[in-house]
Amino acid sequence: MSVPRYAALDGVIVRWEKATVHASTHALHYGTGVFEGIRAYYAPDEDELYVWELDAHLERLVRNMGVLDLREGPSKDQLWDISMKLLRANGFREDTYIRPLVFLGEGTIRVRPQTQRTRWVLLTVPLGSYLGKKVVSCMVSSWTRVSNTMIPPAAKISGAYVNSLLAAMEAARAGYDEAIFLTKEGTVSEGSVENLFIVRKKKLFTPSVSEDILEGITRANVMEMARDMGLAVEERRIPRTELYHADEVFLCGTGAGIVAAGEIDAATDSPRSTRPRPCHWRRNGPCAGQRMPSQS
Ligand SMILES: Cc1ncc(COP(=O)(O)O)c(C=O)c1O
Repeated sequence: MSVPRYAALDGVIVRWEKATVHASTHALHYGTGVFEGIRAYYAPDEDELYVWELDAHLERLVRNMGVLDLREGPSKDQLWDISMKLLRANGFREDTYIRPLVFLGEGTIRVRPQTQRTRWVLLTVPLGSYLGKKVVSCMVSSWTRVSNTMIPPAAKISGAYVNSLLAAMEAARAGYDEAIFLTKEGTVSEGSVENLFIVRKKKLFTPSVSEDILEGITRANVMEMARDMGLAVEERRIPRTELYHADEVFLCGTGAGIVAAGEIDAATDSPRSTRPRPCHWRRNGPCAGQRMPSQS
């Protein structure tokens, strides 16, 4: 990986190694931050980066700041502006990940925030394929998806990602590529960092928002594209057994892209899922995202 030269701290572009915070930072102790994962795709023929769904990601981030009561954080316009400036400053000529994080800074040691101020960073780092494969093996995790009554999974709160990390580590240790979470009721929720779809008789099903999922931007795109293609899409509860009975299962997210789930719990080895679906990227292409202003 090429090491970025610059990062942004509290809205100022600084050298990468200067983007540091104090050890008493509240978020470091209690996970009190909200973040986004955004992708910029490099088009070599044009020597341009194209950012995928920047507006939707920033809107979600600003909305989620309210969940943790992160006051006086950056506006969507500020985040947009600094994303563009940083991409230009780092000048990567490869697919790049954009990571804004808004968090509670230093102050008291108490859990309940009092004197902490809201701080924010923005990083851009080169990132190729997240899972490294188009067809992945999955394990239904023994870890339950963090529920809406615990930490809202829709809010992309930093601390909640320990839940994803535990599931992903467990899956990796067991020899699988990725984990699939169940809700505390035992129905299918999502992957560790992806939403999930199943296909049965040419119809798409995905767990509804009440199933402790992140309401993914890629998920919304997949549903729209599928409907455009004349496919029926339904958001509903998915019992675990349907993972094994489905004609196809796929995971989707900004970081992971769209990957087919082949083997699940070593219970399925049919070639059912070796065709990643749907034709989302093929039709729109990565360049349907926000075009970077020219680097001049
Ligand atoms: C838990 C979880 N689910 C789903 C997704 C996919 O969401 P999106 O398509 O908005 O990237 C992510 C992405 O980071 C995630 O962390």
